[in-house]
Amino acid sequence: MKQIFVCLSALFLLSACSNEFKSYQNASEDYAIVPKPDSMSLAEGVFILKDGCKISATEGLEQESSYLVDMLSERTGLTCTSQNSSGNIELLLDESISAEEGYTLQVSPSGVTISAQQAKGVFYGIQSLMQLLGEYPNGDETVFGVPAVSIVDQPRYGYRGMHLDVCRHFFSVDFIKKYLDVMAMHKLNTFHWHLTEDQGWRIEIKKYPGLTEVGGFRNGTIVGHHPGESNDNEKYGGFYTQEEVKEIVAYAAARHIEVIPEIEMPGHSSAAIAAYPWLSSFPEEKTEITNNMMSESSRSIQAAGIPKVVQETWGIFDDVYCAGQETTFLFLEDVLTEVMDLFPSDMIHIGGDECPKANWERSPACQKRIKEEGLKDEHELQSYFIKRIEQFVNSKGKNIIGWDEILEGGLAPNASVMSWRGTSGGIAAAEDEHTVVMSPTSHCYFDYYQSEDRDKEPLAIGGFLPVEKVYAFDPMPAELDVEKAKYILGGQANLWTEYIATESHAEYMLLPRMTALSEALWTDTANKDFEDFKVRLQDVREDYDRLGYNYAKHVFED
Ligand code: ACM
Repeated sequence: MKQIFVCLSALFLLSACSNEFKSYQNASEDYAIVPKPDSMSLAEGVFILKDGCKISATEGLEQESSYLVDMLSERTGLTCTSQNSSGNIELLLDESISAEEGYTLQVSPSGVTISAQQAKGVFYGIQSLMQLLGEYPNGDETVFGVPAVSIVDQPRYGYRGMHLDVCRHFFSVDFIKKYLDVMAMHKLNTFHWHLTEDQGWRIEIKKYPGLTEVGGFRNGTIVGHHPGESNDNEKYGGFYTQEEVKEIVAYAAARHIEVIPEIEMPGHSSAAIAAYPWLSSFPEEKTEITNNMMSESSRSIQAAGIPKVVQETWGIFDDVYCAGQETTFLFLEDVLTEVMDLFPSDMIHIGGDECPKANWERSPACQKRIKEEGLKDEHELQSYFIKRIEQFVNSKGKNIIGWDEILEGGLAPNASVMSWRGTSGGIAAAEDEHTVVMSPTSHCYFDYYQSEDRDKEPLAIGGFLPVEKVYAFDPMPAELDVEKAKYILGGQANLWTEYIATESHAEYMLLPRMTALSEALWTDTANKDFEDFKVRLQDVREDYDRLGYNYAKHVFED
């Protein structure tokens, strides 16, 4: 907290005190904004927030104005009111500001003005204002104030994403909202919601209720690291109703966050196949669970003649959507139709990663398809699959994005690529004039360990990704020339949850790495400095504490 001691008499009325604060010399620690703004001129004096403070907003900023009222009330207990004109805090739309997400923030002892071309810019100005807000001793009491400053800011990248896997472990609607709140605080603007997997299907699809009734629950989960030591034999699962999905999409939109749903195909589809075995090339074959780790319930179910169950261990599985049968495509089109109605995002993530070709190699239907379509091999069959889905999604006015495996066998014409196996897939896609989101495991996999001393850490998937390395992430590869560099939309970090079963553990894996990511994606390289970031991070840490987030402490102990 900004514990700056100023000698002011408790007998002074606040209005009188404001003169004292007017000439107050602020210290650089008072300006701890993360991500660091483009330019910031510090000035003398403090704007004191008083009960009854008035917030005026241009038409079209009603949502931002009431958001600010709520934020100020939560943070300070003071009641501010929205009104149309002449407030102590003004929110303005100003078309002369050229950056789409940019804003200016002017604070003087007499007032605050946030201006932006669009509402989202005003929203980011509000986040900076909230980070500047501090407590100032005023005699025997404490007042809330904002140090005088002039900020002109805009992000480096338009796509600033965080992903969450809600399939390996399920997370409540309230937790998703908390996740969105911490994203908003860091000016991140895209939530990639990984909704379908081998171990659970998490989104209600009205036409196929079995997806959530059957596919939403597994009969057990392996204990320990893959392939597991045993099975816990506990039924586990959950899903989001379409009403809950709408609630989350609206909650995100109010924070200027777009939600991109991921419906995985053609691999990672065991949960859907457990619900509707005809989606597999081999409906009669039993689901295999590696190393004989199957739960007792699933063993009994299979013994009773039901071959397919939802996966209980982690990894990559051969039983994938059949690319030979038309019914697979009709099913996926139905699912995507409901999904596209729920999510206003332009992009729909269709997965595309880690699809073994073993079943397609021995499936007569898939081989027939390869022959009929004149395809070279199963990689081209995957490309055929993705292109067909792309055509359908395009026909509804939307676009697909997929993991970099969608490059194999030929990229669908309008697809964007999310590069996770390093950056080479992203570079190839950008060279080919496809838009790209960089998300390499090396810098963006928040399921990796945060310390090399693994014994002291909760079980994780592997790897080592400290805060400093996330901070060093730059989505822009040096290999691309200026023209091709335009195809790099930005970056994203991923939180896969095989080994993350609780909300508090998810927060531990997320923070403070997400804070570092925000600066890597927002702030110009010339303004980045890890030592300076660490100082500002101390302030953000106070926000984590105040808001009740769990977080990893390694970077604070260096
Ligand atoms: C991935 O991590 N399989 C995209």
